[in-house]
Amino acid sequence: STVYLKDYRPPSFLIPEVVLDIDLQSEDEALVQATLAVRRNPEGAASGTLVLDLDEVAVEAVAIDGEPLVPARWQADARHLTIRDVPESFRLATRSRIHPRRNTKLMGIYTSSTGFFSLCEAEGFRRITPFLDRPDVMARYTVTLHADEERYPVLLANGNLEAQGAEGGGRHWARWVDPFPKPSYLFAVVAARLDREQDSFRTRSGRSVLLQFFVEPGKLDQGRFALDALKQAMKWDEERYGLEVDLDEYNVVAVGDFNAGAMENKGLNIFNTKLVLARADISTDGDFNFIDRTVAHEYFHNWTGNRVTCRDWFQLALKEGLTVFREQQYAGDRYSRAVARIQAVRNLRTGQFPEDAGPMAHPVRPAAYQQVSNFYTATVYQKGAELVRMMHTLVGPENFRKGIALYFRLHDGHAVTTDALVEAIEQASGADLGQFRLWYEQAGTPRLAVRDRYDEATHTYELTVTQSCPPTPGQPTKQALHIPLAVGLLGPNGREFALRVEGEKNGRGTSTVLSLRGETEVFRFLDVPARPVPSLARNFSAPVLVDYPYDEDALQLLLGYDSDPFNRWEAGQRLAMDLLLVGVADFRAGRPVQFPDYLAQAFGRVLADAEQDPAFAAEALSLPPEVVVAEQLQEIDPLAVHRVRFAMRTFLAERLHDAFQGAYERYETPGAYSPDAVSAGRRALRNLSLAFLMDLGAPTTRQRAVRQLETATNMTDALAALSALANCDCPERRVALDAFYAKWQDEPLVVDKWLATEALSRLPGTVERVRDLTLHPAFTLQNPNKVYALLGSFGVNQVNFHAADGSGYRLMTEQALLLDAVNPQVASRMVRNFERYGRFEPVRRDLMRAALEQIAAKPGLSRETAEVVGKALA
Ligand code: ARG
Ligand code: ZN
Repeated sequence: STVYLKDYRPPSFLIPEVVLDIDLQSEDEALVQATLAVRRNPEGAASGTLVLDLDEVAVEAVAIDGEPLVPARWQADARHLTIRDVPESFRLATRSRIHPRRNTKLMGIYTSSTGFFSLCEAEGFRRITPFLDRPDVMARYTVTLHADEERYPVLLANGNLEAQGAEGGGRHWARWVDPFPKPSYLFAVVAARLDREQDSFRTRSGRSVLLQFFVEPGKLDQGRFALDALKQAMKWDEERYGLEVDLDEYNVVAVGDFNAGAMENKGLNIFNTKLVLARADISTDGDFNFIDRTVAHEYFHNWTGNRVTCRDWFQLALKEGLTVFREQQYAGDRYSRAVARIQAVRNLRTGQFPEDAGPMAHPVRPAAYQQVSNFYTATVYQKGAELVRMMHTLVGPENFRKGIALYFRLHDGHAVTTDALVEAIEQASGADLGQFRLWYEQAGTPRLAVRDRYDEATHTYELTVTQSCPPTPGQPTKQALHIPLAVGLLGPNGREFALRVEGEKNGRGTSTVLSLRGETEVFRFLDVPARPVPSLARNFSAPVLVDYPYDEDALQLLLGYDSDPFNRWEAGQRLAMDLLLVGVADFRAGRPVQFPDYLAQAFGRVLADAEQDPAFAAEALSLPPEVVVAEQLQEIDPLAVHRVRFAMRTFLAERLHDAFQGAYERYETPGAYSPDAVSAGRRALRNLSLAFLMDLGAPTTRQRAVRQLETATNMTDALAALSALANCDCPERRVALDAFYAKWQDEPLVVDKWLATEALSRLPGTVERVRDLTLHPAFTLQNPNKVYALLGSFGVNQVNFHAADGSGYRLMTEQALLLDAVNPQVASRMVRNFERYGRFEPVRRDLMRAALEQIAAKPGLSRETAEVVGKALA
């Protein structure tokens, strides 16, 4: 059943106060007693019947104001607890039972190896106790936990510890009070055996906040990096936004079984171990970076999400788009700004653009959903962040900050909509964002067709920009959007021209943001001394596709000289992309695939100049990902894309062989490991050089990879060598993979890397190998990390998941169906690997559709998966 934004009504009742007593009697059973202060909402529809949400909770008793209710007054079915004839204002007491160990969906309270953990966003709280489980119902929580003291020495909940003690039978209890009213999705409890690392943070107003990190026993040495990251993030938010931590105590818990990456529960963040535990020998540079930003992300939610929260789940991007944007700013400040931007855009292009062009396409603020858990998407998170970034670009950093300050002034403590954010920025800046709001409502990736004309006689340069957006489900026609287009103009020698736009008195420097509002707009630049090369959408100023007929000379000029590093990178991507697309056409027509010398020369220059910024060079030398190339095709033939891209890699490896070998030697990072941006950049370039060389497969290179794998003192270098070997059809391959597992079998996060490396291999035999690995003792469908590592990685393997005989699809179908009965949220993500079948060539299209039909036909399919297959097949 579908929920619509237009049907939003304020709740009929409010619950300002919650007192919970959770008795964790055993792993199998917990007794949950809730006392709720309930009163009618003057803003809601008057009703004498209270309908609370519930899910897999067995209600045993209900009382109002201390009086037990006779069974006729209340009724519980699978989804709701309905109570008739309730007064205006009352205390509702319920007693229920839940079953943590049986909770394989990992929503609500569940067990993991060391105890009890919780995840409530979005609708997990109803799996703990009957409640109005919607974010516009905000309450103060007092929570008492009871558990066995020896097995679960650590008891945690949101807010501040108020009291604790021992009770009979070797058990203990603890009471926590959260002073801030919060929506139920921010509720959290933990009862477990955990080690603790403690520190403190002094806020700029002089308060001292206790910081505690809790990790599995024995893993304390892996917690320090994240704890330091938290302190950095707290400081950054004070400096950048003037936002201070508002609690006396801030706790972070790591758990190995977790559906999400991490969760911003008020004062009690719960993290997937893979996004908190870090140590040089088991974590890559990418992991360190991702952990730093995720710790910051969850912390930033304390203001953008918790203090100001979402009115309903259609507004998810209110907190996620804004928080991802803040996380991106933080990463830009702490690492290389250009590289951070490049990586964000690559993620958008590999994850969000395909989503926006498929059957699950939805606006950043969706208008309807069946299961909100299916809407934690690239569109809500990443495109949502791009929308915030565009507002930042349109009003400027100063006004943006004022807008955010006003947003908090107006909405602190409230549950609001995405409009509240846009309005605050609008009011504080004086900008008109009326048309801009459409970005929140309209799905699909807009395309800008840019054409130009230079008039020698008048030295006038004209850019004509036409926007269009393809139809998406439920939105056959689109309106014109307000698009910020940052541009610069490069002269023939690479120098940038000063910009003067017709009709404006003042010049605009060498870079300016044009506001595109109409379907077609013409911008005229005056006093342009020579025909320029336009640098368009600098720093990726809008989440759009820009179509301009660059020739290779123009792209080489941009690659060499553009003052905007993002567009330098972009020029290299375009250069490669144009040639890849020609190559794919040739390949499919049976013609030989060839590449021109200028490609090797352009990449060679990047490599030669790499010393100034190795991290940037590594990005610039990375060819467009296969999915991004595929997205450009009328009809996707993944094998053709792979073959042609691989041919380009070997072409470059041959032509630049000596330069890559030189880079491999030169960019060593001697001394102790540090995950800082400069060292990480050198490793990235060195390992990229190794990967190119490995595509040629020479025995000496293979030996080099083996040596790197055996002698590496950090996981970045070890894993780079292992992945190179995993894609090499050579005798060293199996030995390396087996040895890696043998060495790391007791480190679950490293086992995940091994599973992923196996599943991502482009070599024949991978489907069978992945099938075998589903039966390997290291794999289980019960643990989301294992599923993401093996099946999630396999799903993005363009060669083997998309094997023409359908074997990859069969494997994914079987596993997804098994998984659906265990953890439907994770299963529906796996099923999404099939959703874009309509974009593929006929053989795969039919096989993928058949897979979806087979999944759809399964009796008892979860709602989560049913939504995905239903939309895909519609
Ligand atoms: N709010 C979390 C974050 O982005 C994500 C929670 C996702 N929930 C889930 N069940 N997958 O920081
Ligand atoms: Zn988030």
